[in-house]
Amino acid sequence: MNRELKYALPFLILLLSSIFLYTIVAPFDRKSLSHLAFLSFIIPNNLQKSSSLNAAPCDYSNGRWVWDETYPRQVYNESCRFLDPGFRCRKNGRKDEDYRKWIWQPHECNLLRFNASDLLERTRNGRIVFAGDSVGRNQWESLLCLLSQGVSNLSTIYEVNGNPISKHKGYLSMMFQEYNMTVEYYRVPFLSFLGHPPLNSSTEVRMSIKLDALHWYSKSWEGADVLIFNSGHWWNKDKTIKAGIYFEEGGKVNMSMNVKEAFRRSLQAWKSWVLNSLDPKRSFVFFRGYSSVHYRQVY
Ligand SMILES: *[C@@H]1O[C@H](CO)[C@@H](O)[C@H](O)[C@H]1NC(C)=O
Ligand SMILES: *[C@@H]1O[C@H](CO)[C@@H](O)[C@H](O)[C@H]1NC(C)=O
Ligand SMILES: *[C@@H]1O[C@H](CO)[C@@H](O)[C@H](O)[C@H]1NC(C)=O
Ligand SMILES: *[C@@H]1O[C@H](CO)[C@@H](O)[C@H](O)[C@H]1NC(C)=O
Ligand SMILES: *[C@@H]1O[C@H](CO)[C@@H](O)[C@H](O)[C@H]1NC(C)=O
Ligand SMILES: *[C@@H]1O[C@H](CO)[C@@H](O)[C@H](O)[C@H]1NC(C)=O
Repeated sequence: MNRELKYALPFLILLLSSIFLYTIVAPFDRKSLSHLAFLSFIIPNNLQKSSSLNAAPCDYSNGRWVWDETYPRQVYNESCRFLDPGFRCRKNGRKDEDYRKWIWQPHECNLLRFNASDLLERTRNGRIVFAGDSVGRNQWESLLCLLSQGVSNLSTIYEVNGNPISKHKGYLSMMFQEYNMTVEYYRVPFLSFLGHPPLNSSTEVRMSIKLDALHWYSKSWEGADVLIFNSGHWWNKDKTIKAGIYFEEGGKVNMSMNVKEAFRRSLQAWKSWVLNSLDPKRSFVFFRGYSSVHYRQVY
């Protein structure tokens, strides 16, 4: 993969975040956007020290949303075939469009405008991996739509196992044939391993989340050039304890651990995995946490 891709990608990811926001999230106000948290934002040292785009290092997560009348431009619309029906806001009745005019402005630098053919060229022979819940899935679909604008023959973009995008669980890997490049999505809402509890667990325990182990998909993430993780929205009582899903550590289910503490431990295991299993010279890692308006409507 081209070295310059590494400089372009942080810009891309922020663009994706904003695209996700105006594509999916219910209408929001500006204030709620500023709560958008990148729990962790890891940029390899080599990038921080020398960037062809900016003389000084730039923390892209440190910025604000600004209103840009010139948007949207160069942006896909809902006719993109990689969008799940449920993610087509306008088709599903959304009337307003102003949310498309917010763009992310880092305090210390400017983001590049997205250029599909340029990014495809830089990503040649590479792998971009999204892993997480529907937030990651939205970003993955957005990126597919954005990149497909740079491909003349859309039939050359295909899922490597022939799986359909809609209603699919597990993982999907879209190949951009002309560039020998894949953009992959792994559905792992907790990131951690979710499975059957140990045999002698209490009967209330239907499933357990192993806080000290990532999902076994993590084996496939190794060696990817860019990894975009997200987790958070599933770490609530309704999707865990109330559904009979408890937390396990060291082979034992801990019935008294609360969700927040479990999420904290899960993220620590994730962090250890990142540090131990990825090569910081090769892989870019991003983590996205909560969207403050995900579970409520702000009309
Ligand atoms: C959506 O984009 C496609 C391809 O760029 C274009 O042909 C179509 O007219 C657009 N549709 C709308 C409703 O803007
Ligand atoms: C996009 O990138 C390609 C390849 O680098 C370049 O030829 C083209 O001029 C760029 N387009 C825009 C609008 O910057
Ligand atoms: C495609 O990319 C992979 C790396 O992801 C590489 O191993 C393989 O040799 C490439 N194939 C071609 C035809 O360039
Ligand atoms: C588009 O790509 C498909 C799949 O590779 C191929 O069968 C088809 O001939 C291509 N169409 C054109 C117009 O090149
Ligand atoms: C049953 O669970 C307890 C902890 O709840 C553990 O100490 C014990 O080793 C387990 N026994 C077996 C047979 O797994
Ligand atoms: C369960 O987790 C809590 C932290 O949430 C901890 O204080 C407690 O010691 C744990 N219990 C066992 C049996 O490990």
